[in-house]
Amino acid sequence: MSPIFWQRKGPAQHAFSAVGACFGGISLEFSGTYTHPAPKQSRRRLSIAQRAQVKHKPLGTSGGFGKGRVVTSDWRADVAEFYDLGPHHPDDIPFYLAHLFGPSASVLELGCGTGRVTIPLANGASFVQGSDNSEAMIARCRRKLEEQGIGPAKAEVGVRDITRFSLDQTFDLIVAPFRMIQNLATEAEVEGIFHCIRRHLSPRGTCILNVFNPKSDRETLVQGWVSTDENLAWEVNHGDTVVRCYDLRERLQEHPLVVFPELVYRRYRNEELIGEAVLRIAMRCYYPQEFLDLIEGNGFRVTGKWGGYAGEQYGTGPELVVAFKDGADFPFIGAHS
Ligand SMILES: C[S@@+](CC[C@H](N)C(=O)[O-])C[C@H]1O[C@@H](n2cnc3c(N)ncnc32)[C@H](O)[C@@H]1O
Repeated sequence: MSPIFWQRKGPAQHAFSAVGACFGGISLEFSGTYTHPAPKQSRRRLSIAQRAQVKHKPLGTSGGFGKGRVVTSDWRADVAEFYDLGPHHPDDIPFYLAHLFGPSASVLELGCGTGRVTIPLANGASFVQGSDNSEAMIARCRRKLEEQGIGPAKAEVGVRDITRFSLDQTFDLIVAPFRMIQNLATEAEVEGIFHCIRRHLSPRGTCILNVFNPKSDRETLVQGWVSTDENLAWEVNHGDTVVRCYDLRERLQEHPLVVFPELVYRRYRNEELIGEAVLRIAMRCYYPQEFLDLIEGNGFRVTGKWGGYAGEQYGTGPELVVAFKDGADFPFIGAHS
């Protein structure tokens, strides 16, 4: 069946408040769960004439869902520099550290980005292998590892597509923090990541995946997500500039349910716009039972489930966090069960 695309044109809509979402490291205030220090601001997109007023060359455009704009092979090439500036990263590091078997544990991180979780894990585990398909994110991660004196015996990161890679190694813990799996929109990609998890999970190992918990039912989400508004997600001072991140929600696919947000990063000096970079990503949506069914349908056995990183019950909090093991390993009651 061909996918159905929902694209709304017409007058500006009010910002929709239905689903908590993280887009490439930005947690947007949809669910009302995260606090939002940035000033509330919503406005229409910049017009072409307004965009032409950008005095300097735009920083560029990354993205795979382009509409005639420049598309690089690394969707995050122009936006990686903004990732660590985002103030809405989840408080998930203690959770992942608590799920290490101990200092002898080896960890595989899928979609490690700039190393937000990789670095603390490397300090707590015997070895962390990070994979990400963005060269720009990996370059930043490598730089941070180097700065912290974490060498290749403790952590290694590489540019790999986590839906199809094979290392000749298995790991005690596999993680994909900050809703990484939601970037995989197609059945082939989702199938691919589960194959990779199976291939790399040690017989008694645990994998933990996380997605956001949609705040509204499916129909409300489908009807209300798309908007012509540009919403300010956050703003931070950076050197002598201010960086503002706006989100746009122009497109939604119903089957399977995927939202396609755009993140627009703008840099200002003395309130003059001096550069802009855009990231277009997919966020496939899962409801609580659907996420469990996906994991079990791929032959794994759920051993733990949480509704967030503050002890929320599964299905009631902003996140869906699920730990699982190889289904064939049924008699073994592991450390994380
Ligand atoms: C939201 S970021 C999370 C980064 C990091 N895990 C964290 O928690 O800060 C998602 C990451 O997944 C990566 N990613 C998306 N699709 C991927 C794929 N098919 N293969 C490898 N990495 C991918 C992106 O490049 C990005 O760095």
